[in-house]
Amino acid sequence: MSLDLDQVNIDDVLESDQAHVWHHLTQHKPFEDKKPPMMVSGKGIRITDANGREYLDAVSGGVWTVNVGYGRERIADAVRDQLVEMCYFANAAGNIPGAMFAKKLIEKMPGMSRVYFSNSGSEANEKAYKMVRQLAALETDGVKHKIIYRDRDYHGTTIGALSSTGQFQRKGQYGPFAPGFVEMPHCLEYRSQYGEVDNYGELAALELEKVILREGPETVGAVVLEPITAGGGVITPPEGYWETIQHICSKYNVLLHIDEVVCGVGRTGKWFGYQHYGIKPDFVTMAKGVASGYAAISCTVTTEAVFDRFKANADDPMSYFRDISTFGGCASGPAAALENLKIIEEEGLVDNAAQMGEYLLEKLRMLQQKHQLIGDVRGKGLFVGMELVKDRATKEPVDESVPAQIAADCMEQGVIIGRTNRSFEKFNNTLCLSPALICTPEDIDEIVDAIDGALDRVAG
Ligand SMILES: Cc1ncc(COP(=O)(O)O)c(C=O)c1O
Repeated sequence: MSLDLDQVNIDDVLESDQAHVWHHLTQHKPFEDKKPPMMVSGKGIRITDANGREYLDAVSGGVWTVNVGYGRERIADAVRDQLVEMCYFANAAGNIPGAMFAKKLIEKMPGMSRVYFSNSGSEANEKAYKMVRQLAALETDGVKHKIIYRDRDYHGTTIGALSSTGQFQRKGQYGPFAPGFVEMPHCLEYRSQYGEVDNYGELAALELEKVILREGPETVGAVVLEPITAGGGVITPPEGYWETIQHICSKYNVLLHIDEVVCGVGRTGKWFGYQHYGIKPDFVTMAKGVASGYAAISCTVTTEAVFDRFKANADDPMSYFRDISTFGGCASGPAAALENLKIIEEEGLVDNAAQMGEYLLEKLRMLQQKHQLIGDVRGKGLFVGMELVKDRATKEPVDESVPAQIAADCMEQGVIIGRTNRSFEKFNNTLCLSPALICTPEDIDEIVDAIDGALDRVAG
């Protein structure tokens, strides 16, 4: 091994980090005279920082990624063996783990059939957007190119993905954005746009039809939606929502793109979030949990029907999907993903996510009875959010500083939780939990006890 961790001088490393690394999502001013945090090891659901402090990680690597937990030697072994055998060739040619993983993945996704590999969730979404635009170019002279996205959803960091993101602050200062992306309203029943109604899900979904009709159905190629909105506040769709969305897509010949970057691969207690709702997507994109962070890999999965449209006129040299992702050819990604999938299957982690998710929701609902600050508890599987409010009657959101204090208090207690931040003007008020799919009732008790104590202290 070229990097002997026992020989590393941690003080030197922390100094190098402070001096040279620009961290994600970070205002660096406070780190002029203190060191940024650094995580150095992990096993199961727990990680240790550079000061030797251990934490229970209730957000799977900060951003709902390490689904099978830390320290999985068999994934590391699979990646190592693959790299020694054949590390890379551009994905115009196949590789062994890529073909094997694609087959196993498709077995979990009835109705889908083709997997396009790249490296990040943003990139996976961009691929689908390019496919939609190219189909418009090939079949409608470019007319049916628009893509509808939803308020509060996030689809990634690149300019195209940000153009399709419904988070005002997350996008702020990074425009101008790409044309052809159009926003539709959110579906958060707790913040209903129609007051108290019996058919909120249907009404929220019908907003899609309104946007399609306003834009002209002949101009709309696709709609991209998270099955359960993640960073926008863990928004579980209301009853009746998806049936209506699916119906509208069929009616106007609009392709349905489901962004499973967070929900995919077991997180919500089914293999994919959309499988809770009987949806038949045209595109499914996924990234984070695909290899649990052991390698960078993302997938844009589509149907044979969509795939066939790129072969329809093989004599036209412009008609096939002329896209490449250099590192979509790294064999380490599918090697890690294949092993990750086997672990999830062998250990029954999808079922565990469903069962532990129920337990977590039950415990948080009990906490809600104790703490007035908790306005709403929602989620599916091991993917749960709690919206904090100043007043339950008015639902006025707490300031962003409140979830920040609660998360900091939990961290002091040795539990890392997440929170929505810098995404919306008023609604950065949701605490997020997404522990690894291996988590136990005892882990959940520890997480909930930490939040309980933090709420006592912060809410006074
Ligand atoms: C729903 C969703 N889609 C896409 C992305 C972008 O993924 P990446 O950061 O891998 O580009 C994210 C990232 O958090 C996400 O939550």
